[in-house]
Amino acid sequence: MTKKLELRFHGRIIDSLGIQMYQSPVAALAELVANAWDAKAGEVDITLPRALHEKATIIVKDNGDGMTFHECQEHYLNVGRNRRIDDATSPSLSGRPVLGRKGIGKLAGFGIADVLEVDTTSGKTGERTVFSLDINALRDESFVSTSARPIATSVIEDPDPSRIPNKGTTITLRSLKLSQRPNPDRFARSMSRRFLLNQVADNFRVLVNSKPIPEDVELSGMQFDFPRDYRPNEIPAGVTVEGDWAIEEVEGEEVKWRVRFAEYPIGTDEFRGISIYCGPKVAQTPFFFNLSGSLDGQHGQQYISGIVQADFIDQFPVDLITTERQRINWEMKEAKPLEEWGQARTKSLLTIWKDRRAEAKTKELDDKVGRFSERLNRLPSSERQVVSGAIRKLAQVPALDQDQFASLAEAILTAWEGGRLQKLIERVADVENMTEGVLLALLAETQVLTALHTAEAVRAKLDIITGLRERIEKKELENAVRDFIAEHPWLLSPEWETFRKERKISGLVEDALGESGIATDIEWKGRADLVMSAGHEVLVVEFMRPGLTLDYDHIDRFARYVRILREKIAANSGLKFSKVSGLLVAENLAKKPGMASQIDALSKDGMGCLEWRQLLAKAESQWSEFLDALGSRTPKDSRLAALQQASEDNAREGA
Ligand SMILES: Nc1ncnc2c1ncn2[C@@H]1O[C@H](COP(=O)(O)OP(=O)(O)OP(=O)(O)O)[C@@H](O)[C@H]1O
Ligand SMILES: [Mg+2]
Repeated sequence: MTKKLELRFHGRIIDSLGIQMYQSPVAALAELVANAWDAKAGEVDITLPRALHEKATIIVKDNGDGMTFHECQEHYLNVGRNRRIDDATSPSLSGRPVLGRKGIGKLAGFGIADVLEVDTTSGKTGERTVFSLDINALRDESFVSTSARPIATSVIEDPDPSRIPNKGTTITLRSLKLSQRPNPDRFARSMSRRFLLNQVADNFRVLVNSKPIPEDVELSGMQFDFPRDYRPNEIPAGVTVEGDWAIEEVEGEEVKWRVRFAEYPIGTDEFRGISIYCGPKVAQTPFFFNLSGSLDGQHGQQYISGIVQADFIDQFPVDLITTERQRINWEMKEAKPLEEWGQARTKSLLTIWKDRRAEAKTKELDDKVGRFSERLNRLPSSERQVVSGAIRKLAQVPALDQDQFASLAEAILTAWEGGRLQKLIERVADVENMTEGVLLALLAETQVLTALHTAEAVRAKLDIITGLRERIEKKELENAVRDFIAEHPWLLSPEWETFRKERKISGLVEDALGESGIATDIEWKGRADLVMSAGHEVLVVEFMRPGLTLDYDHIDRFARYVRILREKIAANSGLKFSKVSGLLVAENLAKKPGMASQIDALSKDGMGCLEWRQLLAKAESQWSEFLDALGSRTPKDSRLAALQQASEDNAREGA
């Protein structure tokens, strides 16, 4: 007896072909979309489940050519069939490059579902066939070899021309294996990264839940767009620019590309890098042409979003696209020229990007120089050169975004004027290449510097508060002091720092003063002392006559006044104010029973009653705390420590 060997396939081979390769719904469904393209569909609609449950389905419906019963058998159910070889005589696909080649794409559905149901109507004969594939049944029985596996059919309808207009294929995925319901918007955006539609074909639409996917993922905040932003002398030899696209030849084959740089680093890996498309479909998800080593402008990789259309990669007799279809097999010699071309292009674009980025920042600086020019001009010309030189150096540090750069440039100018950091700034202006070390040193110093400026300002405020306290103690509570407070509301407390005099509501204030009886009260001179606002908040301040002791009656009238004003403001829909606070300041508060709790209750209702002494002590302690916080947030610095010490000494004297 002659011995013989045979090759056997286990049903589980399908696991390797389908399940394991396409676990993301987008990757799996992209294969079904590709099949619709190959079937010459004008439209394919993916319906995602609203919720995940046992009966949830994903439906992919196309209006392509469908399949005859015979084609279901010979084409669909023939795993591993290469249609490009077997269909050599088939009519050309209305100018569309054929995407299918491996004969396994349909199995991608098993990556996310256990059951695939196919319902197809042939555009040639009107035959309708419905059958389903269940991965568990296919996997169950042991070996498949020559003995074919029976497939469950539920509908077999013979040729009928009246059904031809209904041509198309609907694939229903059941027993879904998703851990999470796909978000339709995110899914549509991801899908649109896998298909270049408007550039390649205007007769194919992909819809998600009946809504077309975005044609071009609009990454917001694009700063540079090549080839459009090439300057005439930068256009590489052999490149033709057509609209937004560059067209050139790589080893005699056409390559079309567009590379954009975002203004800020692109957050998602899915969108960062350059993708390669064959026909409408992605063949290589975003990457950097396998560039390695350190590059000029390397940092720019985080900002790139590029598209390369290289149809020829999928037209070699050998298949260069890896089985999971996310990557081109760059080990293959056929792929080498594209890789080398891509590396060269990417490198040169990164270099151009780096220069442009520095220019853009410098230009921005020039635009803003009006703000600084007066200050710069006050410097002797040699100094002016040093300072603007330092700022320009800074403009070339890619790690700084526009805002950081602007504030640092501002700090440099201020630092120079303050006579500080001159050595460091000179060094910055001198360095050939701004390194991270120099930058960090500069940042640390400017941080101290900024704190120092703030600290000095706070220090000055504390001095003023002390001065004011003295005048009030000497009973010099004159209009000048009130006016001064109106100009410097921070004297009341740091929280009022941004408040400004408010005149729009003076009519309402007069009315409220009248209605509350304050207007006719001699102790109260009958006029509003101070009305201020910031944002949606109004603050009214009343100062009592010097020497006057605040009593129940005053407090009641004041509260009435604020409440009446609140009602009037609320009734006036034209005003943007949503909060009205009041502050009553007197030399003394009567120490009568019940007074303290009355004052307490009012303060919870946004009405404060304070003695001058308390008011100033509160402002002083809050500003001192601010000064302390400033010191603790900033690296140790002797100048800062000296200011804090001075403030503590002062506080002790004042106490
Ligand atoms: N939606 C469809 N409409 C019509 N025919 C289809 C459809 N889906 C699949 N087919 C037929 O079934 C065949 C097998 O599809 P499958 O995706 O497994 O392989 P392929 O597309 O030929 O190659 P690849 O594995 O590279 O995708 C296709 O070649 C096509 O003839
Ligand atoms: Mg396919």
